[in-house]
Amino acid sequence: MRPADSSGMYQAYMNWYEQAKTSWEIGIELELTPSNIIYSGMGGSGASGDLIADWVWNRIEAPFFVLKGYHLPKWAGEETLLISVSVSGNTEETLSAFYEGVKKGCKVVVISSDGMLERVSRRASSFIKIPKPLAPRVGLPYMLYASLKLLESIGLVDDREIEDSIKVLKELKPKLSLDSKDNPAKHLADEIHFAVPIIYAPPLMAGVSYRFKASLAENAKMDSIVNVAPELCHNEIVAWERMNVDNYRVVLLRYEGEEPEIRERMEAIKEIVEESGQEPIEVRANAGDRLSKIVQNLYVCEMATYYSSLLRGVDPLSTRSIDRLKATLKRRLEYIHRYTELEDWATS
Ligand code: PA5
Repeated sequence: MRPADSSGMYQAYMNWYEQAKTSWEIGIELELTPSNIIYSGMGGSGASGDLIADWVWNRIEAPFFVLKGYHLPKWAGEETLLISVSVSGNTEETLSAFYEGVKKGCKVVVISSDGMLERVSRRASSFIKIPKPLAPRVGLPYMLYASLKLLESIGLVDDREIEDSIKVLKELKPKLSLDSKDNPAKHLADEIHFAVPIIYAPPLMAGVSYRFKASLAENAKMDSIVNVAPELCHNEIVAWERMNVDNYRVVLLRYEGEEPEIRERMEAIKEIVEESGQEPIEVRANAGDRLSKIVQNLYVCEMATYYSSLLRGVDPLSTRSIDRLKATLKRRLEYIHRYTELEDWATS
């Protein structure tokens, strides 16, 4: 494997523990008891919402809804906590949802490092400024732990599992580094960088699986297929009756202590894949609690996308197609200018 690229991405990935600590130490003073929560953000900024949803869905009373688009659901209102997350602060979908949230009287908390969202944040209940990362995906812990801090500060989740998950990042750092001899992320990259990975995950790892897919695309310029069990057992599994396995490499995202219905299902999926002549690769989290397991698999997979970029000789930082699409949409739609008030909010 070549040495680390010169983009600065490697160093940024190696700073995940420090990023998490920085955000976890932010002081947030807010009194809120929302009836429901909407987490609004796109791409690397929305990813934290998926991870949190997988963790909190059966531990908090309020529904937690991840919005990846322009418009708030009809039920959003004064009882809603809207968390608007954008690194650049200029993503039009997130700005649009922010605008609607203010108009509907939602309690809005902005997490951003820059841009229009910062400028209009005086309309929000709170603004959490995070350091600007090199790219949203390498700055994920800034957003994830600022969001978790917010949820903790309003009493929705407690701090112990979150602090444990930060320790996981610290422990994993040397194991995932370039000079580590037994590096699970490098092993994973070795197995997948030449193929189209098919990533199958149980619900706890749904957000991780989607982030894995997104970072494979952005860092390594690779496409992949993602599906979540049990749903995949009701449709996608049929494709394995006539699969040409040569082009694919199956990755199963797993964890110690899987519930029986998850364990048996993942084992059954594994058997079907094996019958087709392929040995699936298992990425298995063994860290303590559920959040720690999410964070462990996330970090291993994310570093595997980075190492895949090195193996494929591509620049992990550049995402030309995203920039191009954003510019095209801006030119064609000028969407955000529908909301002329946003400019007024920024200046008054
Ligand atoms: O990884 C990326 O660069 C993208 O997925 C961005 O996160 C996405 O386009 C949203 O941009 P922002 O994070 O600035 O709101």
